[in-house]
Amino acid sequence: MARRQQQRSIQSLFSNRSMIYILCHFGLFFILLLGVFLPWAGFPIFPFPYKCSSSLCSSYYLHSKWHDYSVAQAAKFVAKNGTVIVCTVSYPLLPFLNNWLISVSRHKHQEKVLVIAEDYATLYKVNEKWPGHAVLMSQPLDSQTAHNYGSQGFYNLTCRRPQHLLDILELGYSVMYNDVDMVWLNDPFQYLEGSHDVYFTDDVTTVKPLNESHDLPPLNRYGVTNICSCMIFLRPTNGAKLLMKKWAEEIEAQPWSNSKAKPHDQPAFNRALNKTAHQVDVYLLPQAAFPSGGLYFRNIRWAKNTKEKHVIIHNNYMVGFSRKMKRFQDFGLWLVDDHGLESPLGKLQ
Ligand SMILES: *[C@@H]1O[C@H](CO)[C@@H](O)[C@H](O)[C@H]1NC(C)=O
Ligand SMILES: *[C@@H]1O[C@H](CO)[C@@H](O)[C@H](O)[C@H]1NC(C)=O
Ligand SMILES: *[C@@H]1O[C@H](CO)[C@@H](O)[C@H](O)[C@H]1NC(C)=O
Ligand SMILES: *[C@@H]1O[C@H](CO)[C@@H](O)[C@H](O)[C@H]1NC(C)=O
Repeated sequence: MARRQQQRSIQSLFSNRSMIYILCHFGLFFILLLGVFLPWAGFPIFPFPYKCSSSLCSSYYLHSKWHDYSVAQAAKFVAKNGTVIVCTVSYPLLPFLNNWLISVSRHKHQEKVLVIAEDYATLYKVNEKWPGHAVLMSQPLDSQTAHNYGSQGFYNLTCRRPQHLLDILELGYSVMYNDVDMVWLNDPFQYLEGSHDVYFTDDVTTVKPLNESHDLPPLNRYGVTNICSCMIFLRPTNGAKLLMKKWAEEIEAQPWSNSKAKPHDQPAFNRALNKTAHQVDVYLLPQAAFPSGGLYFRNIRWAKNTKEKHVIIHNNYMVGFSRKMKRFQDFGLWLVDDHGLESPLGKLQ
């Protein structure tokens, strides 16, 4: 009886296309592995997208379960007090993820972090070092193109952000989204005053008065706002969900083209804010606490005068990983070299 069931399960395994894929890629190694694991009836088998390096192979079983890890499971695992902190990471961004995580850990919010992996390598690496903190939310990208700012791969990546955030809101969690080229100098949660739908920062370089209103800022000389899509806090309200839906629509309505005006999700976010202005309760966070990189790194005098007010520093207004890293180093914000052990991922290399 048990034997017949096992035979049937072997047949269904071999009729499965993913099985054929695996066999093609792993050949004899996989057949040996199968011999060891087959008795475990519930063992999940998935196509594994890598050439077999020995460390990946030896922890094959450990890794493969993350392929099946759902966002509902992941959010439930990391959420504290109904809140999840998310970032989106492709493999080349891991050093920035680690840098950001060290700063988040210093303010004791790291347990809420959920890394939305954009490729299998990130999914496996993060979950190997820090089990349960990475999830795949959509078809993974080719990680070579994903980190090329302005490329279609990059656009496809940012394109998914509103849908990912909406999915987490629909599960009933508040969600803080951060780009990982950020460093926390202070705890941002104490700045999320009141019970608004969405909290965000203005991506401008001009200095604004300290008593600036918390409403959507006035249109600039180009007739638009320039709210940053890099740091957003959302409560699981109808207003926040509506904004995410509108944002996704605005991105879809603006298909990628290889133009100079680097297609980006931020203008779409601003159009969504404009179109939902009377339905969504927004809160603009103070500039002195959440300055753009164009202000913080370039206006040294301003940075010095507002030093004790800074909360999150964003390394934007700068293109390229190595240049961003150099700038963080120059300003004492590259923490991974000397403080790597403070990261829940540990030292990566
Ligand atoms: C939990 O969340 C509520 C509502 O968002 C907030 O007022 C409270 O300070 C949070 N508590 C902790 C311990 O973070
Ligand atoms: C981006 O998405 C489009 C549409 O889904 C797809 O045709 C294209 O191959 C993707 N490009 C990259 C580089 O991921
Ligand atoms: C900010 O302060 C200035 C000068 O004290 C005042 O004129 C302005 O109305 C204030 N703005 C807001 C939004 O409170
Ligand atoms: C939205 O954009 C339109 C057109 O540019 C503008 O007239 C309107 O004032 C904007 N609304 C808000 C709330 O900024």
